[in-house]
Amino acid sequence: MFLRGKSALVTGAGRGIGRAIAMAFAEAGCDLCICSRTKTELEATREAILALRTSTRVIAIPCDVADADQVRRVVAQAQAEFGKIDILVNNAGYAAFKPFWEMDFAAWQKTLDVNLNSMFHCIQAVLPDMMERRSGRIINVSSVTGLKPIENQSAYCAAKHAVNGLTKSLALELRDYQIAVHALCPGGVATRMTEEAMPDRDKADFMQPEDIAHAALFLATMSPQMTTDILPLRRFASTPLG
Ligand SMILES: NC(=O)c1ccc[n+]([C@@H]2O[C@H](COP(=O)([O-])OP(=O)(O)OC[C@H]3O[C@@H](n4cnc5c(N)ncnc54)[C@H](OP(=O)(O)O)[C@@H]3O)[C@@H](O)[C@H]2O)c1
Repeated sequence: MFLRGKSALVTGAGRGIGRAIAMAFAEAGCDLCICSRTKTELEATREAILALRTSTRVIAIPCDVADADQVRRVVAQAQAEFGKIDILVNNAGYAAFKPFWEMDFAAWQKTLDVNLNSMFHCIQAVLPDMMERRSGRIINVSSVTGLKPIENQSAYCAAKHAVNGLTKSLALELRDYQIAVHALCPGGVATRMTEEAMPDRDKADFMQPEDIAHAALFLATMSPQMTTDILPLRRFASTPLG
């Protein structure tokens, strides 16, 4: 129960990595505000958390993280319910892979809106209270695509590189406020995202959402004496990142 007394906002918690992170945090005793757009998935995550019987408080609020007003409302509701948000997990993401020359501007824009601009909205909304309390942790779910080029993933790659840049800049800007900022950079994880974006790829050696949740829990429970900015997590069978 390392996170007893803490509260977290996890975006994109209806399925995949976000759901696994929410479950892992709940098992550690953390109170949770979870959001995504699909109400049924969100409610299923809430029920799974309650079934853990860890006395975790959980509120599930449908929200499109690309919409600043909706994000502000979710943050206000979570702060009203728990008194504070200790940990923000910016996990919601979107990927559609195709050659750059076949991509229209709407697809480019959506990729940046959901993967990057959503982080602007969420971080801006939680920061004033974190800065006032001089305490907080922000975990941005990035990707190995933020560390290296991958064919046919230009928009996603641009967004995730930007997430890593944002993470490092914020780690610097916020260190005097004792606010830690990290980016988790997983390679292939077996989720609906990869099923839809690369249907023909064999996923037998992919990581599981719970593997990434384990790493998020490590970040969330890290000693205040240390930090890490960018944490790559690659498939065991893949090549070490340079
Ligand atoms: N799977 C991988 O291999 C992999 C690798 C590296 C990094 N990542 C990153 O990990 C994160 C989670 O991905 P995943 O693989 O778990 O994908 P997923 O299974 O498709 O889940 C994505 C979650 O984000 C939510 N979401 C999407 N758009 C949203 C929006 N506009 N507003 C609010 N919520 C939204 C989805 O719910 P709704 O659609 O209902 O809103 C869903 O709950 C993403 O940031 C992704 O880029 C994934």
